[in-house]
Amino acid sequence: MTDGAAGVVRDVVLVTGATSGIGLAVAVEVSERGGHLALVARSADRLRDVAAQCRTAGAASVTTHAVDVTDAEAVQAAVDAVVDGHGRLDAVVHSAGVVAYGRLEEVPAEVFDGVVGTNVLGSANVARAVLPAMRAADHGRLYLVGSVIGGIGVPGMGAYVVSKWGVRALARQLQLENRDRHGVHITLVRPGSVDTPIYTLAANYSGFVGAPPPPVYRPATVARRIVESFDKPPRVLNVGIANPLMLLGFALLPAVYDVLVGPLFRVLGRTGERVGPTPGNVLAPTPDGERLRG
Ligand SMILES: NC(=O)c1ccc[n+]([C@@H]2O[C@H](COP(=O)([O-])OP(=O)(O)OC[C@H]3O[C@@H](n4cnc5c(N)ncnc54)[C@H](OP(=O)(O)O)[C@@H]3O)[C@@H](O)[C@H]2O)c1
Repeated sequence: MTDGAAGVVRDVVLVTGATSGIGLAVAVEVSERGGHLALVARSADRLRDVAAQCRTAGAASVTTHAVDVTDAEAVQAAVDAVVDGHGRLDAVVHSAGVVAYGRLEEVPAEVFDGVVGTNVLGSANVARAVLPAMRAADHGRLYLVGSVIGGIGVPGMGAYVVSKWGVRALARQLQLENRDRHGVHITLVRPGSVDTPIYTLAANYSGFVGAPPPPVYRPATVARRIVESFDKPPRVLNVGIANPLMLLGFALLPAVYDVLVGPLFRVLGRTGERVGPTPGNVLAPTPDGERLRG
């Protein structure tokens, strides 16, 4: 719950993907408003640094949980520890996610599966772990960070496209299944382009380093929108002025969309910088590249 104009957050908030980009921005935003934080990511060292940053920023308490969201048992253990420790879990912002660049036949199966594993199965693991406690209390908000890409196609990003359509489907399904609990809210967060390290941390088999196509938002903007919606979580939280245009163009004018998206993406969605084939951070964390902005 936020406390009027002061914007104080008294909630217990679990954030996955808390060591970089949007997840880190949410952790900082909650800290500055005085909330309790449980931080989840794979790299224990990086979590320690971020926890210190959150305490300095004003968090009421911080716990860290070095967990891979594809490990359902580990996710459940982390959630149980938070619920046992605080007696409640008010909000979960699930921001852990990874990207792979390359055509379907170029991306190794293991990397494709890794993207789908973290983004889709990870989301299901988090939802499965937190919903029983939220439903029992008839209280809690679950934010699944999807993407505008969960409603369109982008050449050379097949694994990510499939995964984000999956996150969108999961969010919609969970909204249906939790209609009987008025205190439980499921929100699909749908950012457009955000300036985070995900583009350089990505697995890449396309030959070129990726880049966020304009308009590009700051992770702090997405974080603020999420935290400010705690009092009244929407079904979908769009952050990106071009999102409706892309979604409508893909759905209503598919032939035009398909002609335009390839050339546009080649110009706007990648840098001129070359990169050799790499699994990036899909199969294991690469904490040295993690930070707030890209
Ligand atoms: N940046 C954009 O333009 C953009 C646009 C739309 C949607 N999104 C979505 O926003 C979310 C956050 O993206 P971002 O740009 O902030 O990315 P980021 O800066 O690369 O951060 C990703 C975070 O996820 C964690 N993570 C990755 N795999 C994990 C796993 N298997 N288990 C647990 N944690 C894992 C990373 O830490 P470890 O590696 O240490 O685990 C890191 O904390 C993602 O779902 C992404 O798809 C981003």
